[in-house]
Amino acid sequence: MAPSISTFITVVAWATCTLLFEKYHAVELAATSESSAALQLERNALLHTGWWSSNQTGNNSGHCQWDGIDCNARGNVIAIHRTYASLGGKLKLNFSSFPNLVRLDLVGNEFQGSIPFEIGTLSKLSHLHLGFNNLIGEIPLSIGNLKNLVSLSLENNRFTGQIPSSIGCLTNLSYLSLSWNQINGSIPMEIGNLKSLKSLHLASNNLTGPIPTSLGDCYALTELSLSRNYLDGSIPHHIIDLYWLDSIDVSHNFLSGEISVELGRASSLSILDFSFNKLTGSIPPHFSFIKEVNLSYNSLKGQIPVDYGWYYDRYHTPDTLIGNEDLCGQSMGFPPCPPARNNSVGRTVKIMVPIAMFIGFFVLWCFLLLKCVVKKTLPESTKAKNGDLFSIWNYDGHIAYEDVIRATEDFDIKHCIGTGGYGSVYRAELPNGKVVALKKLHRLEAENPTFDTSFRNEVKVLTKIRHRNIIKFHGFCLHKRCMFLIYEYIERGSLFWVLNTHVEAVQLDWRKRMNIIKGIADALYYMHHECIPVIVHRDISSNNILLNSKLEAFVSDFGTAKLLDSDSSNQTLIVGTYGYVAPELAYTMIVTEKCDVYSFGMVVLEILMGKHPGEFLNSLSSSHSQDVMLNELLDHRPPPFNHLVAHDIFLVAMIAFACLRTKPKSRPTMKCVFRELLSRKKPIAKPLHTISIWQLRNQETYLVGESETQS
Ligand SMILES: *[C@@H]1O[C@H](CO)[C@@H](O)[C@H](O)[C@H]1NC(C)=O
Ligand SMILES: *[C@@H]1O[C@H](CO)[C@@H](O)[C@H](O)[C@H]1NC(C)=O
Ligand SMILES: *[C@@H]1O[C@H](CO)[C@@H](O)[C@H](O)[C@H]1NC(C)=O
Ligand SMILES: *[C@@H]1O[C@H](CO)[C@@H](O)[C@H](O)[C@H]1NC(C)=O
Ligand SMILES: *[C@@H]1O[C@H](CO)[C@@H](O)[C@H](O)[C@H]1NC(C)=O
Ligand SMILES: *[C@@H]1O[C@H](CO)[C@@H](O)[C@H](O)[C@H]1NC(C)=O
Ligand SMILES: *[C@@H]1O[C@H](CO)[C@@H](O)[C@H](O)[C@H]1NC(C)=O
Ligand SMILES: *[C@@H]1O[C@H](CO)[C@@H](O)[C@H](O)[C@H]1NC(C)=O
Ligand SMILES: *[C@@H]1O[C@H](CO)[C@@H](O)[C@H](O)[C@H]1NC(C)=O
Repeated sequence: MAPSISTFITVVAWATCTLLFEKYHAVELAATSESSAALQLERNALLHTGWWSSNQTGNNSGHCQWDGIDCNARGNVIAIHRTYASLGGKLKLNFSSFPNLVRLDLVGNEFQGSIPFEIGTLSKLSHLHLGFNNLIGEIPLSIGNLKNLVSLSLENNRFTGQIPSSIGCLTNLSYLSLSWNQINGSIPMEIGNLKSLKSLHLASNNLTGPIPTSLGDCYALTELSLSRNYLDGSIPHHIIDLYWLDSIDVSHNFLSGEISVELGRASSLSILDFSFNKLTGSIPPHFSFIKEVNLSYNSLKGQIPVDYGWYYDRYHTPDTLIGNEDLCGQSMGFPPCPPARNNSVGRTVKIMVPIAMFIGFFVLWCFLLLKCVVKKTLPESTKAKNGDLFSIWNYDGHIAYEDVIRATEDFDIKHCIGTGGYGSVYRAELPNGKVVALKKLHRLEAENPTFDTSFRNEVKVLTKIRHRNIIKFHGFCLHKRCMFLIYEYIERGSLFWVLNTHVEAVQLDWRKRMNIIKGIADALYYMHHECIPVIVHRDISSNNILLNSKLEAFVSDFGTAKLLDSDSSNQTLIVGTYGYVAPELAYTMIVTEKCDVYSFGMVVLEILMGKHPGEFLNSLSSSHSQDVMLNELLDHRPPPFNHLVAHDIFLVAMIAFACLRTKPKSRPTMKCVFRELLSRKKPIAKPLHTISIWQLRNQETYLVGESETQS
């Protein structure tokens, strides 16, 4: 059903766009037919505006020399910039005289009247900036003819009427701002055609109706601002498909419904403002990485998740949550959650609440379970023929095999950025400007069954999962002659590389190191406890943790990952990286989640020490080892830390040693680790130079494995 609707929209949009184009094509041809006459027309049209003083227009100077006019080599006007010049009056530029105009920038001039319909003749226009004027009327439908538009800003005017649906014709549009007008009606569904759109600003208008679900098709979107309108309905689930979305502001509307559980987990948002709406339900977990969250003045209820307050003072209701009367805090100074009362009403509540909660959790659990299982089973576009699979999806729908070959010049060595456990990794800049990483098996490697299996395994696992700290997978080609996987490109390279490069290691301060640890823990928690079947990575090492430009962590390399389900044998060959593999794998060969927990412990110590802890751990097990203090263990390269971070370091070190316990059963689960990392209830530690490693390792009561998980 959905595809047929979108096909219909596409056809209608195409027809509209084509008709508009035809109409203006004729005018354009006429205007360019006689070149010297055309130049004279341009000059007359400029003179007619009265925007240049006689100083400039006098003594018969060429108009290409006037302020704010740029011409091409043939003398045609290609750019007009007149900004904040208080020109006033109407926008009386005869648009049909400028068939070569590429930029028109008339911001801040107190222009009145409306935009002439003839604006549609500027078919080469790429930048149209008419913001901060007093323009009125409707945005002309003919705007859809400006197919080369990259940037359109009409903000801070007094436009009324609707957003023309022809806006969907502007498929090269990257920036669109219509904020601070009085535009009414609903946001046209055709907005979903704008695959290059990065910024969409429609704030402070009179827009009504729902946020169109087609917005989820604007794959390139990084900024979305729809605040201060009259929008209703729910926040479309599809926005979690917007991989690049960095900030979303839908505050001051009438949005209702619940906040998607996946929003915190899957997206890489850093700013989220949902304040002043009518959102209900509870605050989903995993919001802790979104740097600025504002959920104030909604109707949210229930307990505030422990991870919500990571960046806030836990003794006060953060002002990002005020105005939600039914929220309560667990151990924090928020209004506390009410204890069950003993009167008759209380008893009913006491019985009903657990039942309701049970049903709620059951539904949520089923939902998550289905999500994890159903999500991203191979998409429709997958072609399976003779065991060859090819599928590229979920990026902008436009990456084609040919684009990949062209971008890497058929996998030329100069695009190679490294060789992994298997295959080489290439960096490819696609025609739309996005950069992706490609992991490719070379012909000889592809004939090696082990490599082939790893590749297929990675596809199997990565198509199932989605988490903000797990590398994003954009597609794959599994073909005898050309096997490659496509991922998001993660700029800073591996954690191993960063820790072993002095300049980078200095930049990796303690706050960032703590965040990396939390990110890895979050990803493993998701794989071990939220995915069915459970996914064990089996090769967690500093080489397989990648860092982006903000030094956030992404777990990568799922070639050896294993799905643990009840039918399959959990017996395994030893895989993994020497120095990170859990000791029990040497004799039991049974893989459990606790193998990852062990490797995680190794990586955490490595982050604290700045180098692989193998040698240090060996020295501990020798009989005449000297006791070492925690501060002596720490990497000396990053800048010193304050007492708050010292407390986190203590906590993290204690967790690391618990994860490295020899017996798998006595290691904590990732669930337990993650919870500990988020709760800030731990007693304030003594100064780090007074805590010995011996003490840390012998905190057997702390984070006990199995018994803890049963509570
Ligand atoms: C003419 O040009 C001079 C110097 O460039 C300037 O000072 C003057 O303000 C200009 N006159 C007008 C009317 O713009
Ligand atoms: C026009 O003439 C004035 C005065 O002679 C001179 O200052 C100005 O630079 C000339 N304008 C151009 C564009 O040549
Ligand atoms: C604009 O210029 C065209 C010629 O390019 C002319 O035919 C038309 O009359 C002009 N329009 C106005 C409003 O001056
Ligand atoms: C969009 O931009 C691309 C590259 O910048 C260009 O090749 C293409 O012609 C443009 N499309 C339209 C419809 O202008
Ligand atoms: C938009 O506003 C205009 C003028 O206030 C009104 O005539 C029109 O009906 C409104 N349209 C919608 C869809 O609300
Ligand atoms: C937009 O909303 C404001 C405030 O409700 C109202 O005063 C104004 O008339 C509306 N404008 C249109 C065009 O509907
Ligand atoms: C959250 O939004 C409310 C209302 O818009 C505002 O008062 C508060 O300062 C915001 N908090 C933060 C941290 O931005
Ligand atoms: C409510 O009942 C429980 C046992 O059912 C008892 O422990 C608790 O003290 C009672 N609370 C009040 C406020 O009476
Ligand atoms: C394999 O491990 C999973 C998860 O620990 C467990 O549920 C399953 O029963 C195990 N399978 C076998 C055959 O032991």
